[in-house]
Amino acid sequence: MDKHAIIERNATLLLIGSLLVVTIGGIVEIAPLFYLQNTIEKVEGMRPYTPLELAGRNIYVREGCYVCHSQMIRPFRDEVERYGHYSLAAESMYDHPFQWGSKRTGPDLARVGERYSNEWHAQHLADPQSVVPESIMPSYAFLKSTPLQINDLSAHLTANAGVGVPYSQEMIDAAVEDAKTQSTPDADTTAFDARYPKAKSGDFDGDPQALTEMDALVAYLQMLGTLVDFKTYDETGGDR
Ligand code: HEC
Repeated sequence: MDKHAIIERNATLLLIGSLLVVTIGGIVEIAPLFYLQNTIEKVEGMRPYTPLELAGRNIYVREGCYVCHSQMIRPFRDEVERYGHYSLAAESMYDHPFQWGSKRTGPDLARVGERYSNEWHAQHLADPQSVVPESIMPSYAFLKSTPLQINDLSAHLTANAGVGVPYSQEMIDAAVEDAKTQSTPDADTTAFDARYPKAKSGDFDGDPQALTEMDALVAYLQMLGTLVDFKTYDETGGDR
């Protein structure tokens, strides 16, 4: 009897053999990951969400927008032609939890930022059918009359810092102030800009006096997919 037949006919031996093979295979696959600092390639332009954008993101999650909208452009030609450059892993590296999704009752939102005006978003969210008559999206008009809760913003930044988002103590301490600055037209944004390069500030909900949940959600929508500049982004990572 050759050796193969001996192993095949002895259940205990076969079990031990299988375990050995799976163990070696597992170690070969998993061990290198322990020695990598990061499995996500860094990309220029990525920064953590501003406190206002983060608050908007929390509202997005709370309202279940992900039930109808994905935030990941797949690397297929039809997707790229409709939505823009396919999503990079680095673009959701500060998302806890990520909003990739696969359900698309509405369009993908990964690059909706800067595609419409703030007024369009506020109007669309309040009454979708007023701008897209055939829309089946529900109304979120109440966001416009709901004051944004800002006293817990520092805690939200701290929680994100705890899972690896690079919020500094300075950013955490200034969270409330930064949210107010970002939503106030013509505010002095020097310190804010230094903390969050290229963040857009101004009035997002159409009411410059009030800081509402609509401000936060529109601020979030307007930055989606805008951080990485694909005119200068090097597909090859610059090392090929
Ligand atoms: C029941 C499904 C549904 C839900 C829930 C929903 N949407 Fe939509 N959404 C749609 C549909 C359908 C469209 C396309 C028609 C339109 O523009 O209104 C759309 C369009 C949009 C657009 C315009 C996208 C584009 O590229 O033109 C934005 C922005 C948007 N939704 C944001 C949101 C946000 C934010 C929420 C949560 C507060 C939300 N949606 C919840 C169905 C939904």
